[in-house]
Amino acid sequence: MINKIHFKSKNLTSNAGGSTLPTFPERFFWGIATAAYQIEGSPDADGKGKSIWDTYAHIPGKMKNGDTGDVAIDHYRRYKDDVTVMREMGVKAYRFSISWPRIFPNGVGEPNPKGVDFYSRLVDELLQAGIEPFGTLYHWDLPQALQDKGGWQSRDTAQAFADYASLIAGQLGDRVKHFFTLNELQNFVDMGHRGTVIKVQGKDVRIELAPGLQLSTAQVNQVSHHAVLAHGLAVQAMRATRPGLLLGPADVLFTGVPIIDTPANVRAAEIATRTYNERFLDVMLTGRYSDAYLQAAGPDSPKFTEADLSAIGSPLDFVGVNIYIPKSYVEASEDAKGFREVPTSLTHPKMGSPWHSFIPEVLYWGPRLMNSLWKPKAIYITENGCAANDVLTPEGRVLDTDRVMYLRAVMSNLHRAISEGVPVKGNFIWSAFDNLEWTGGFGTRFGLVHIDFKTQKRTPKLSAAWFKEASRRNGIV
Ligand code: BGC
Repeated sequence: MINKIHFKSKNLTSNAGGSTLPTFPERFFWGIATAAYQIEGSPDADGKGKSIWDTYAHIPGKMKNGDTGDVAIDHYRRYKDDVTVMREMGVKAYRFSISWPRIFPNGVGEPNPKGVDFYSRLVDELLQAGIEPFGTLYHWDLPQALQDKGGWQSRDTAQAFADYASLIAGQLGDRVKHFFTLNELQNFVDMGHRGTVIKVQGKDVRIELAPGLQLSTAQVNQVSHHAVLAHGLAVQAMRATRPGLLLGPADVLFTGVPIIDTPANVRAAEIATRTYNERFLDVMLTGRYSDAYLQAAGPDSPKFTEADLSAIGSPLDFVGVNIYIPKSYVEASEDAKGFREVPTSLTHPKMGSPWHSFIPEVLYWGPRLMNSLWKPKAIYITENGCAANDVLTPEGRVLDTDRVMYLRAVMSNLHRAISEGVPVKGNFIWSAFDNLEWTGGFGTRFGLVHIDFKTQKRTPKLSAAWFKEASRRNGIV
C-alpha cells in the first residue's frame, strides 16, 4: 500500500495553466536554515569567547584560500536587514544556531548577558516579521575553553551542554517554541575526531572538521556517546526549566535508498538505514545501542550506564534530519549484513559540491524509512539544498536554474512521502545566504540569496523567487 503514489485530492490544487499543483498540508513550515559560525562574524564582539572554529580556521592550510568566519556575512551586525530579506522572500520559519561561546565564553560558569541579548533581539525581529524561529543549540562551534579540557572526549562536556541548554530554554523559550539540540552528530563526531573518507568520482577524499583530531575507534565511539548523552541531558534539562517546549535533534540521516523499489530491496534499505545510524539516531530513538553495534564494536564499544541510556532515549516531540544525499543506493543481499551497496556510476549527475550526487528520491525514502523504523511523532527536514556555480549577470541577477530544478525535485519527493502519511511538518532549505562552507570557504555557494563578500551586498537569486512562489502557494511550482 505504502508503495503507491497516492495523492489525496486535498493535496492537489488546480494551477492557472490547468495542470494540478501538489500542495502541502496547512501550516507546513517553508523554512530556511543557517548556522552561527558560517554567517555571524564578529568573533570577539560583546564578550564572546573563542570557539574551536575560531581556532581551527586560523591554522594555516586548513581552510580553502585561507578563508575564516571572522567576518563571514557580517550577520551579527546586519541581522535586521537579513530578517527583512527573508520576510520579503516568503520565509515562514527560520532555523538559526546559537553560538555557545557567545552565551558561555568559558563554556561553563557565568553566562554573558550581551550574547543572550543578541539572540533575543533576533528572535523579536523574526516574530515581528511573522517568521517562526527554530533554534539550534549546537552547530559545531564548541567553546575552545571546553576543547582545552578534552572537548567531546570528556563526559563533562555533555553536562555543560545541558546547563547551557537550560539557560537558553529560560531566556528564549518564552518566544522560541522549537529547539534542535545538536546538528549532524554523526558528521561533527566523525569528521572532527578522525576525518571521514568519502568516494568522489571513484577516488577517496577525506573531509575534516574542527577540532581536526585523529582518534582511535574506541575514542571516537566514546565521543559519539558523549554527543548523544549531551542531547539527552539537554532535553531533560530544558523540559525541567520550561515544560511545553518542542524538542528534538537535527541529526544527519544516513539513508540506504533502494535502487529499485521491490519489497526485498526496501527491507534491505531499512536494515542499512538502521545500521548506518546505530550510534546516533537509533540509540536516541530506541534508548539502547543495538546488539549488532555492540558486537561489532567489541572492545571498542563506548562505556555507558543504564542511566545514560534512559537520558539519551528521552521522549522527543519530533526528529529533525538533514538530508542531502543517501549514504548509498542498496539492494537485497543474502549475506549477514542484510544489504549490499550499489555505488553510483561515474556519470551519475551531480550538484555543485563534489560529494553531492543528484539523488532527489532520498527525500522520499529518508522520511519514509525513518517512519517505518522509529515511528517519530513528527519529522522536520532541517536541511537540504545544494551548492551551485552562481554568477551575477551584468543586470545583477543570479540565474541558478540548477538549484531551482534541485529544489523542485526534492520537494516533490518529500510531498510524495507526506501524501503517504509520513508526518513531515516542515522543510528548511540550506541556506538562506551564501556563507562560509566550513573548510570549503566562501567559494561554495549554497544560498538562495547571493552575497558579494567584498561589499556584503545581498541579492536574492532565481531560487529565492522560486521559494517565494512555492511558499505563497504552499505547493511545488
Ligand atoms: C551542515 C551545514 C553545511 C551543509 C552543506 C551540513 O552538513 O549542517 O553547516 O554547510 O551541510 O555542506
